[in-house]
Amino acid sequence: MPSKTCNVVVLLSGSGSNLQALIDSCQGADSPVCIRAVVSNRADAYGLQRAAAAGIDSVVLEHTQFDSREAFDAALMARIDDFAPDLVVLAGFMRILSGQFVRHYQGRLLNIHPSLLPKYKGLHTHRRALEAGDAEHGCSVHFVTEELDGGPLVVQAVVPVASDDTVESLAQRVHRQEHLIYPLAVRWYAEGRLRLGEQGALLDGQPLAASGHLIRS
Ligand code: GAR
Repeated sequence: MPSKTCNVVVLLSGSGSNLQALIDSCQGADSPVCIRAVVSNRADAYGLQRAAAAGIDSVVLEHTQFDSREAFDAALMARIDDFAPDLVVLAGFMRILSGQFVRHYQGRLLNIHPSLLPKYKGLHTHRRALEAGDAEHGCSVHFVTEELDGGPLVVQAVVPVASDDTVESLAQRVHRQEHLIYPLAVRWYAEGRLRLGEQGALLDGQPLAASGHLIRS
């Protein structure tokens, strides 16, 4: 049995397949991870149904109801902190977060992004990788800092690009890897193995490479 459970709050805006992967990965009685709540900025996010099916509390906080990013983020922090999270996980949360939010969760805020960062920050990553003729694409888990999609990398999964790949086929293969690396990174964190140090991400006290832990399929 783990000595202490790691309370996780998951933020999402859409389908929530990464939430599902996290739910599935922490089913066992010996899991150190407890998904305490799901927060969505969209009332129609399918991820909310996944949370309900798993018996997880959820909160909807629509950003459209707020005058400014700062006001929304302050309300968001208050709702998240009701659940006393040890870790906050962004799983397809399609909002740019303010500095105050990122600083508040410094070292306990993870994101997943569908590219091999630092390549293709932002949107339309699969299309951009195909248009550039890249031989490899993939996904990254990183600690969140004030630089958009720019924080220290924890783990990356590399996916070969096939000559007949479409945006959809590539996205699907990358998504499958996301569902492996996010639960892995969250478990490392919950086990106390993963931390954000002064110079970057540490695994078992050792600095990770700039690309994070690399997985090739
Ligand atoms: C995932 O592909 C995730 O990497 C991406 O949104 C998708 C959410 O899918 N996140 C970003 O692009 C953040 N910059 P899901 O709702 O099925 O988990």
